[in-house]
Amino acid sequence: MKLDGKVAIVTGGGSGIGKAIAVRYAKEGAHVVIVGRREAVLKEIAALDDKISYVAGDITKDEVVEHVMETVKEKYGHLDILINNAGWCPVQPITEITIEDYDKAFSLDVRALVNMTIHALPMIIEAKGSIINLSSVGATHRAANLSMYVGAKAAVENFTRVWAIELAEKGVRVNAIAPGAIRTDIWNVTNLSLEDAKKHEEGIASSIPFKRFGKPDEVANVALFLASDEASYVSGSVYAVDGAQGAA
Ligand SMILES: NC(=O)c1ccc[n+]([C@@H]2O[C@H](COP(=O)([O-])OP(=O)(O)OC[C@H]3O[C@@H](n4cnc5c(N)ncnc54)[C@H](OP(=O)(O)O)[C@@H]3O)[C@@H](O)[C@H]2O)c1
Repeated sequence: MKLDGKVAIVTGGGSGIGKAIAVRYAKEGAHVVIVGRREAVLKEIAALDDKISYVAGDITKDEVVEHVMETVKEKYGHLDILINNAGWCPVQPITEITIEDYDKAFSLDVRALVNMTIHALPMIIEAKGSIINLSSVGATHRAANLSMYVGAKAAVENFTRVWAIELAEKGVRVNAIAPGAIRTDIWNVTNLSLEDAKKHEEGIASSIPFKRFGKPDEVANVALFLASDEASYVSGSVYAVDGAQGAA
């Protein structure tokens, strides 16, 4: 029980990597509040473990971010771990990107992450807790058709490092995880045609030294380490979980 008595928020905890982290944290003794827009999905995950509860809402909206924090404060009185996991990835060349794609990616991948962090910080500082941001291998290993996403994730990695420096004296650790290609729904919700999406996926899989996609649990393993006391001297780090994709 590496997280016994801890309280965690996992944004995007209803699916993919966020779901895997929420379930793992709950198994390790944490109370986990998952956040996402689809209430039915969140309900299903919460039913898996009585340590998991949910708040349904869109975290690009300021009032939802405030409501999440008020709920946690009222229910538990403290917050130890914030997992800024919710993200979205438009897959288009710059010749086809619309400003709406930019707004959608940056309002979730960047603005909501910053807003969640700002609002969580009073409780996180009080608990001398930990923040984990989900970046991507793409932040440092760029690929065509992903400019909005890799731009957003580059910001996430730089926030992580600066916040780690700023919050060190308060006893708060800030780290990021940079997954490679992990088999989740994010691969189904691009604006590519089915055929182009398949080509895009195949191109990526063939470039991975492990020659396979990763599993959400393989990311959750690292998220568990980073949130636990075993990582007591780890801050400002970006952990690759990418089958050596980013090693080249
Ligand atoms: N899978 C990969 O290959 C991969 C690689 C590198 C990095 N990542 C990063 O890993 C993180 C998790 O992605 P994933 O692969 O697990 O994808 P996913 O299954 O699509 O998860 C994204 C989650 O974010 C939630 N979400 C989206 N918009 C939201 C909003 N406005 N407000 C609240 N929640 C919102 C979604 O729930 P609702 O739709 O219900 O809101 C969903 O649960 C992301 O930051 C992604 O960029 C993934």
